[in-house]
Amino acid sequence: MSAYKKPQNQDPKVHYENTKARIQKIQSHLDTSPRSFRLKDKVIIITGVGSLKGIGRASALLFAHEGAKHLYLIDFDSTNLPDLKTSIEKRYPDVKTTTLQGDAADESLISGVCDRAMQEEGRLDVFFANAGIATKNPLETTTAESFMNAMRVNSLSCFLAIKHASAAMRKPNASRGKPTSGGSIILTASVAGLRSGAGTIDYSASKAAVNSMAKTSAYQLQKLDIRVNSICPGLIETGMTTDTFEYARSRGADAKIGQLNPLGRFGVPEEIAQAALFLASDDSSYVNGQNVAVDGGLSASHPVVPGRWA
Ligand SMILES: NC(=O)c1ccc[n+]([C@@H]2O[C@H](COP(=O)([O-])OP(=O)(O)OC[C@H]3O[C@@H](n4cnc5c(N)ncnc54)[C@H](O)[C@@H]3O)[C@@H](O)[C@H]2O)c1
Repeated sequence: MSAYKKPQNQDPKVHYENTKARIQKIQSHLDTSPRSFRLKDKVIIITGVGSLKGIGRASALLFAHEGAKHLYLIDFDSTNLPDLKTSIEKRYPDVKTTTLQGDAADESLISGVCDRAMQEEGRLDVFFANAGIATKNPLETTTAESFMNAMRVNSLSCFLAIKHASAAMRKPNASRGKPTSGGSIILTASVAGLRSGAGTIDYSASKAAVNSMAKTSAYQLQKLDIRVNSICPGLIETGMTTDTFEYARSRGADAKIGQLNPLGRFGVPEEIAQAALFLASDDSSYVNGQNVAVDGGLSASHPVVPGRWA
């Protein structure tokens, strides 16, 4: 039997240059790819769209590019909502955009926006519960209050989305082109919700709850054609991770960011948006109750000492 030979990895500098080029290409998607209307007629709610570098904003723009009928866009922080609305309306005048300032973990806001979509459009097709917060403290200084706040913002928000969106989605409305019950609920969890090593104890617990809810609710909503899945992003450069990226860059360690996964790079919000688009569209009609990792392969392996196996 021949001895195992480690494949020749690229020169780190070449790999980093390739990474930058790849990311630039990914981020130019809206300018370079024709609209294919994979979300035609769909009425969609997205939470956590306010951050300029966030997953929510990248998803809203991609969903508009794909011809969604009406986007209801929510964030706690209203600063960037007018710009997002104008950007979508200027570029995609066929897409209706409603922005709302509010807390994704506020039940009256979430039930209210689902009701509003039903009143205005007669149907709700997709709820992308993406709003979330990160926490920073280690176990010793994590308080009961910060634990409960992480659970409220990250987990309760997803429960409310599942509860109220599914109630709207199960109502057929043939006059609006929806003859049967149906819809797609997408939750942003994290690789931190799959196993240890990617976040604090309260953040990780809150995201594990999200992954659990995707599985349980898919079963509780059976035979309604309402699918529930979660996305588990790995390390993505967004508003949430700016400090990490800035710290690494200030130390000249740019090329090392994200090196632990087999793709050997970090991800960008547009890559999570593409996964959300797949789950929102009918292309994923048989994908249900799953925790979909979009992490460059990070969660695929046990930790290994580089050598024989990696
Ligand atoms: N960036 C990563 O590496 C990463 C990895 C795994 C999971 N995630 C998850 O992705 C989701 C999106 O985060 P992001 O990385 O785009 O970060 P971000 O900070 O850029 O965006 C998060 C947005 O959510 C909003 N928000 C926070 N709490 C809210 C609330 N209660 N109600 C309404 N809006 C609220 C914020 O104002 C912000 O606009 C989060 O759920 C986060 O936990 C991110």
